[in-house]
Formats: sequence, C-alpha cells, structure tokens
Amino acid sequence: MIYSRIIATGGYLPARVMDNAELVSMIDTSDEWIQERTGIRKRHIAAADETTCDMAEQAARKALAAAEIDANTIDQIIVATTTPDWIFPSTACLLQERLGINNNCAAFDVQAVCTGFIYALSIADKFIRSGEHKRILVVGADVNSRIIDWTDRGTCVIFADGAGAVILEAGTEPGIYSTHLHANGKYTDLLNVPAGVSKPGDYPYMKMKGNEVFKFAVNTLGDIVDETLAANNLTKSDIDWLVPHQANIRIITATAKKLDLPMERVVLTIAEHGNTSGGSIPLALDSAITAGDIKPGEILLLEAFGAGFTWGSALIRY
Ligand code: COA
Repeated sequence: MIYSRIIATGGYLPARVMDNAELVSMIDTSDEWIQERTGIRKRHIAAADETTCDMAEQAARKALAAAEIDANTIDQIIVATTTPDWIFPSTACLLQERLGINNNCAAFDVQAVCTGFIYALSIADKFIRSGEHKRILVVGADVNSRIIDWTDRGTCVIFADGAGAVILEAGTEPGIYSTHLHANGKYTDLLNVPAGVSKPGDYPYMKMKGNEVFKFAVNTLGDIVDETLAANNLTKSDIDWLVPHQANIRIITATAKKLDLPMERVVLTIAEHGNTSGGSIPLALDSAITAGDIKPGEILLLEAFGAGFTWGSALIRY
C-alpha cells in the first residue's frame, strides 16, 4: 500500500496587523462584540501590492526549507484559493515559476472557498495513493481583504489574509487515513461574492447571512466528525488534536464539544489570524507543529466549512 503523509509545513501572514480597535474607528462595532461573537482580536491584512501568489510563495518556501528538499523534486502543485492573482494562468502556475521549479510538474488551482485546502489535500492524497506522484506541494492562500466591503460590519470583522503550505510525500505508513468532501449548492444565497467573469455583477464583495451560515456550519461539522470517525473505526478518544477551519470560536467550540475534546487539544489561531479562508487550516497546522504542540504519531482531525456550501475533513497521523 502507498500512503501520503505530511513531511513539512510553512505559513505566512502579511506584516500589517489590524486590531479590533482599528475596526471600531471604521464601523459601528466594539472590541467586546467582535471578541465575544467571533473570538477574533486581530487579523493580518496584505499590503496594497501584495498578492495571493506572494503569500503562497512565502509559505511554500518555508515548507520546502523545513522539508530540506530541492523544489525540483516536487511533482505536483495545488493552490487552494478563491482570490487568485489572475483569471489565468492559475496561481499554482505562477507559484511554480516563482519557486524556480522547471520540471514541468502539474500545477493547478482548486476553488472550494474555506474548504479549499481540504479539497486540495484530498486530491493530492489520491494522486500519491495511486502511485502517480510522490511529492506534492499543497498551498492554501487567500487575500480576502480585496473582496471585503469595509462598510459591512457583518463580514469585515471576520475575514483576513494569509497562506499556509504542506508538502505531502509517498510512504508505506499513513499519513492521511481518509478525507471526506461534500458540497450543497442550494445555499449559494447565504454566502457569496456575487460577481465574476461570465456574470460580472455590481457588488464584487462578500455577502453573508452570518446567523444562518453559523447554524448550518455547526450541524454539518458535527455530522462530518461522526462520518470521519466511523470511516476509520475510531472513537472520539482516539483523536489527539482538532485542527479546525478558523471561522468562529463558537463554531470551533461546538465541534470540540461534539468530540468531547478539551479546548487545550484544539488548535486555535482565530484570535490572531481571523478567517483566512484557504490559508486557515494549513496556517493553524503550521503554528501548532512549529510550536511543538503537535507531535509525530499523533492523530489529527482537520475540518472545514465554507461557501458553496462546501465542507470536508481529513484524518491524519502526523
Ligand atoms: N458589531 C456589532 N454588532 C454587529 C456586528 C458587528 N461587527 N455584526 C452584526 N452585528 C449585529 C447585527 O446587526 C444584529 O443586530 P440587531 O439584533 O440589532 O439586528 C446583532 O449583531 C446580531 O446579529 P447576528 O447576525 O444574529 O449575530 P451573530 O451572533 O450570529 O454573529 C456572526 C454574527 C457573523 C459573527 C456569526 O453569525 C458568524 O460567525 N457566522 C458564521 C460566519 C462564518 O463562519 N462564515 C464563514 C464560513 S467559512
């Protein structure tokens, strides 16, 4: 059997930090409201000329350095993003060039919004398990600040910018035990950016019915925890760490409760990062691994929920 496993991670956050006090000076809100309802204290915002690919490059370089491998041994690049630099080429192709990878490896983007990294990880895992590829760079990166309406207090306090990267490698031991992907396009009106290429629209910013998204996310993530454990014949007590998408502390707490996991076993970056969409899970993973909290051999449950709606999970032995 061939399995994939994570051999290295990397993360990048833009230099500029925006705290809640700055938002209070812009919109009708308060530090107390934001912290109590979302768990966010501050977030990072990209510089005006800083792009998704710029952030992806920094995160990928850190992962490559941590893996101590030559970038030209990568044989596939996947970037999960909803905010690509250009319509085309894909951010993954731009990234391949930036990293000096000249081995003609496959490179493409995946768009599943906040679940994008889980989708990308799942695709990469399948390529490795099939024997087709041995080393894959998976990046999640988003510059949400470009699609935020800074007058909409229901969204601008939540979303932020950042990138994370992992390198997956083929091996004889898992690694990734299973991934689970879902979507339901019935709920597009609850969370969207109603503008694009074939349907331009006049409001190219996020629109969200936060309260309804919240309820759907809590229920759905509870279900995917059950699905993931059942697929692997595991019980809640087998999970060492929950590595959730950092959307809202109350959604994360509800999922931890479902798993009977104490919050010390939940990787939390939301207070400092906000919701960085595709970057959220790999950034959280990288922060817990570099801090030495997640240790080799431990079992991690990764889960995410996003616009679409999309949702997914991955069960991993680190
Ligand atoms: N500051 C102060 N008040 C705010 C506010 C803000 N930034 N944003 C909304 N409010 C107000 C609302 O206008 C509303 O006021 P009203 O009662 O006078 O109408 C009140 O707070 C409650 O609004 P509601 O939307 O019910 O709040 P909530 O407790 O659901 O929290 C979210 C709002 C957005 C924080 C929460 O719904 C959420 O996080 N949802 C999930 C979002 C998410 O995870 N999206 C990404 C998925 S990847």
